[in-house]
Amino acid sequence: MPIYPLKQLDVAPDASAVYDEWLAEIRETLEAGGDRWELCRRTLTGIFHPHLADAGPRSLPLAAQAALAQMDARNVTLEPEYYAEVDVAKFQERKPLLWMWQMFDRSPLGGNVHLGVRFRRTLAPFLFKRVGRNFKAFHFVEFSYGYNLEVGDDVVVHRNVLLDDRGGIELGDGVSISDYANIYSHTHDIVDQRDVSNLKTVLEDGVRITYHATVLAGSHVGRNSMVGAMAVATRDVRAWHVNVGIPAKSVRVKPNAPPEAYKTILRSPAKDEPDAGPPLAAEQGDGSDGTAGE
Ligand SMILES: CC(C)(COP(=O)(O)OP(=O)(O)OC[C@H]1O[C@@H](n2cnc3c(N)ncnc32)[C@H](O)[C@@H]1OP(=O)(O)O)[C@@H](O)C(=O)NCCC(=O)NCCS
Repeated sequence: MPIYPLKQLDVAPDASAVYDEWLAEIRETLEAGGDRWELCRRTLTGIFHPHLADAGPRSLPLAAQAALAQMDARNVTLEPEYYAEVDVAKFQERKPLLWMWQMFDRSPLGGNVHLGVRFRRTLAPFLFKRVGRNFKAFHFVEFSYGYNLEVGDDVVVHRNVLLDDRGGIELGDGVSISDYANIYSHTHDIVDQRDVSNLKTVLEDGVRITYHATVLAGSHVGRNSMVGAMAVATRDVRAWHVNVGIPAKSVRVKPNAPPEAYKTILRSPAKDEPDAGPPLAAEQGDGSDGTAGE
């Protein structure tokens, strides 16, 4: 297959200067510990209703008053706030920025990759537990708390991804999560829905979760492994393995894997999972006899 590195693209200089100045203003406010609620209200009013910025609310029709109220995160509730175990102080600290991120994405600005990636990169350090360099999030990425999300260096999260960090999510360096994938870290008892287990989900360095795949709570996805399109990873994925299907099973080991990849022992081996033994020929091949990997 041909190698296609991403292109370098620029926007018009005038717009670029405006973006630089605007993002610097947001960053400076955050770094100076400024009022985040006011930052959110001012930013969203500027994006959605600049002509109403100085309007006396009572002079507007009720629908317009309601629309204007959405610019202020104090007038909004978000689903994670309803969760029993939410750390209210941590959530409230982040809520105006969470709302700013979500509303930016819903605005005409949200689809602008050049601006959007930089906007989200500006907010991320103030939202997440940790974020490394070159973080890249495309539009309509959602997360639950933010404060339970750890992100390594050079992580890319594509469109419409859900990062449910309720029980904690750790993304290692170089992790890539493709469009419409879901990473969960909480689950419900099958009898009593109120019985919630929060389980940290870990994607180690170099993991790729591909289109529409789902990783369930508590899974440990090993280094440089890959979860195929539409797969559901219900338990651990071994380093360097390619897991596909529902439930996701290994169909191959990546051809560039080191020898130990064939001997990786699962963190929590399933009953029917053989202990790591000598590598089988099929484990290195195309998996066509069904004995490869898991
Ligand atoms: C995971 C993936 C890369 C596997 O590719 P591959 O290593 O070339 O695997 P193969 O195509 O040789 O398939 C091996 C077997 O797994 C099956 N398989 C492959 N992908 C599957 C998937 N997503 N779901 C279910 N089965 C799948 C194949 O049908 C084949 O089964 P068979 O041996 O019974 O014929 C690929 O199928 C995939 O899901 N790609 C997603 C797109 C992508 O690359 N996204 C990255 C964006 S950053």
